[in-house]
Amino acid sequence: MPFDTGKPEMSVEEFRLLRDFVYGHCGILVRDDMKFVMQRRLWPRLEVLGLTDFSSYYRYLRFDAQRRAELETAIEALTTHETYFFREPRQLKAFSEEVLPRLERRNARTKRLRIWSAGCSSGEEAYTVAMLLKDSGRFDGWDVEVHGTDISRRVLAVARQGEYGPSALRATAPDKIARYFDHVGPTRVRVRDDIRAWVSFGHQNLQDPEAGLLVSRMDAVFCRNVMIYFDTPARQRVLRHIYDKMVPGGYLLLGHSENLINLSADFELVHLRSDLVYRKPELGGGLAP
Ligand SMILES: C[S@@+](CC[C@H](N)C(=O)[O-])C[C@H]1O[C@@H](n2cnc3c(N)ncnc32)[C@H](O)[C@@H]1O
Repeated sequence: MPFDTGKPEMSVEEFRLLRDFVYGHCGILVRDDMKFVMQRRLWPRLEVLGLTDFSSYYRYLRFDAQRRAELETAIEALTTHETYFFREPRQLKAFSEEVLPRLERRNARTKRLRIWSAGCSSGEEAYTVAMLLKDSGRFDGWDVEVHGTDISRRVLAVARQGEYGPSALRATAPDKIARYFDHVGPTRVRVRDDIRAWVSFGHQNLQDPEAGLLVSRMDAVFCRNVMIYFDTPARQRVLRHIYDKMVPGGYLLLGHSENLINLSADFELVHLRSDLVYRKPELGGGLAP
């Protein structure tokens, strides 16, 4: 039934169909009380496609020749990409001061380091990690790769460009801005080339491990503020996937409001001085140094 805005209302049945479809594709759970949010965010798509109701939109997503592209656009409209450089400093301190020395010792022979920012959004997290690696002075001359992956191609394009404004820098100290960015405009900066050389970005749906693009096993994985949008089975799927992609003894860093209680017993909790992190146990169950 049209509102007085002239826009079609989403029925409960249409909401359920669309919600389940989105969930099946990417694990994002649109809560029952978010029908109006979903309706508001998808209205522009109906307009663009010339559709008059959400049932037609659902059929379009399922059967139209352009359905894949449209599903990406719909997911785009429904996801949040909030992120910024040096987010969650306490955890980053633990990573720099306690995890990195351990990784340096573990990989001293191969001089190779692989870190994954899973759900990297526009790239700030992956670049932050590369800056911490550079800051530590431990990995110069090493074979280092920081991979950022996300389901949204739009944010990945921003990540690859590596240019940011004040909002992305709101937690970045001026000395770090001076060290790791070039100014490209009055309020815009670009990540410096020596940092960019360690970082690459790729498209990946964390709910679809088959589509995995990471060739090497990861020494550390940041998966922060991504699983908050998933329900328990979807979180468990992502955690299994991450576990498979990690070296034994590798570290997993979640967002500060996230933990693995009731989700996974595969990882062990490690109490560091500044924070708690998770670790994939060593083969044979021994604890990593
Ligand atoms: C709030 S941002 C978090 C960014 C960064 N990790 C941080 O903590 O600052 C969440 C990101 O997860 C991505 N995302 C959501 N569902 C995903 C999925 N199934 N596969 C991959 N990325 C996903 C979103 O596109 C979004 O960019």
